[in-house]
Amino acid sequence: MDHFPIIQALCRAALSQPSPAVRKQIERLRDALKEKGDTKAASVLAGMLTTAERTSEISPSRIVQSRAQLSGETLRPNTPVPVDRETSAPLAQLIFPSETRLSAPLFNDTVSKAVRAVLEEWSNLEPLAEVGVQAAKTCLLYGAPGTGKTRLALWMAAQLELPILLARIDGLVSSFLGTTARNIANLFTFANRYRCVLLLDEFDAFAKLRDDPQEVGEIKRVVNALLQNLDSRRDVGLTIGITNHPQLLDSAVWRRFEVQLEVPKPDFDVRVEIARHFMPPVNAPETHLRMIAWFTDGATGAEIETLVRTYKKAMAVQNGEERLLLDTLRQFATLNSGRIDATRKELIFSSNGVLFRTMKEDQQLGFSLEDIGRIAGKDKSTIARNIKTLEKESDGSGTVSAHG
Ligand SMILES: Nc1ncnc2c1ncn2[C@@H]1O[C@H](COP(=O)(O)OP(=O)(O)O)[C@@H](O)[C@H]1O
Ligand SMILES: [Mg+2]
Repeated sequence: MDHFPIIQALCRAALSQPSPAVRKQIERLRDALKEKGDTKAASVLAGMLTTAERTSEISPSRIVQSRAQLSGETLRPNTPVPVDRETSAPLAQLIFPSETRLSAPLFNDTVSKAVRAVLEEWSNLEPLAEVGVQAAKTCLLYGAPGTGKTRLALWMAAQLELPILLARIDGLVSSFLGTTARNIANLFTFANRYRCVLLLDEFDAFAKLRDDPQEVGEIKRVVNALLQNLDSRRDVGLTIGITNHPQLLDSAVWRRFEVQLEVPKPDFDVRVEIARHFMPPVNAPETHLRMIAWFTDGATGAEIETLVRTYKKAMAVQNGEERLLLDTLRQFATLNSGRIDATRKELIFSSNGVLFRTMKEDQQLGFSLEDIGRIAGKDKSTIARNIKTLEKESDGSGTVSAHG
């Protein structure tokens, strides 16, 4: 289709503020393109529509301002936060919604819906109380590092237009006996006085006290302080706990959280969307986004973000000479050895025949020989020949397995 990049840019701009009419017209265009056999352009539009849907889906349909509903004083940027008595280190940091202009992290439908349910509850505290239902005000997010938990928590508070009181766990943990428990109590007293979301990020750090056998009494005090304070806060304000190591959390603390949401590593479709999300202003072809998603099997959103940054750098410094996606992926795999799945890494460095055949056979990639050719900088007959040669070899010697 002529001028498709322009049309694509137009659609993307329109979808940044999607109205039903905008969606409908883009859907029409997608169907028309598909009918005319331009499946590639159609799938680009389909992808855009899914992204728009995902990002709007995670937001509650109508956020009733929670301001009126949570009782307490209003936090200001100059409100003094409590400090550790011995070191004067602040126990928390204030983050106001205007400071976090973050877009929603991308998740699969199940997680998006769960997040929306929590937000809907939190933005309807009053109507729920009126019918005698207590909203769940404590939420634990757990999962691998880099899956978007912190970003999700910041974004949720911004959706509710509430400031975040971000606990400094390192500041809370004191080497003075009894001080950690007192710091926790002071922090919660402060949180309960104001309208805010209390964020306990990476709060498994308390558990490190446990490594020290001398600290048995202290860890008990700390856990008790946490339990008591979580209990008393439950009816007052909203709390989000985050941990990368749920197994380190005391099980009683773990149980205190009414909502326990596991933030998973992204699946293939979500990886495509995350790659797309971080790509602008570079306009990467759909095949590249899919290839990046294939390559980052088992990786986190943060890792995909890093790879996309590498991709953009390669695009920016190509000085006339075309940089191939495969070279970029190989470079990334070499410099980020631990971040890439071993099988993927092996494949990306294997012979053309093996790699091309794997790409051709991968259902999720759904690549044609032309697609692979474009990615590899070869024409489609060369790709076909590479695959064929491999098949002949494996027929002959029987040493190459059928699945490369
Ligand atoms: N699901 C996701 N969607 C979009 N971006 C993500 C996602 N997961 C991670 N990221 C990116 O990685 C960065 C780090 O994520 P972060 O929220 O700090 O992870 P965690 O707190 O789980 O370790 C985020 O700021 C975001 O840019
Ligand atoms: Mg984090």
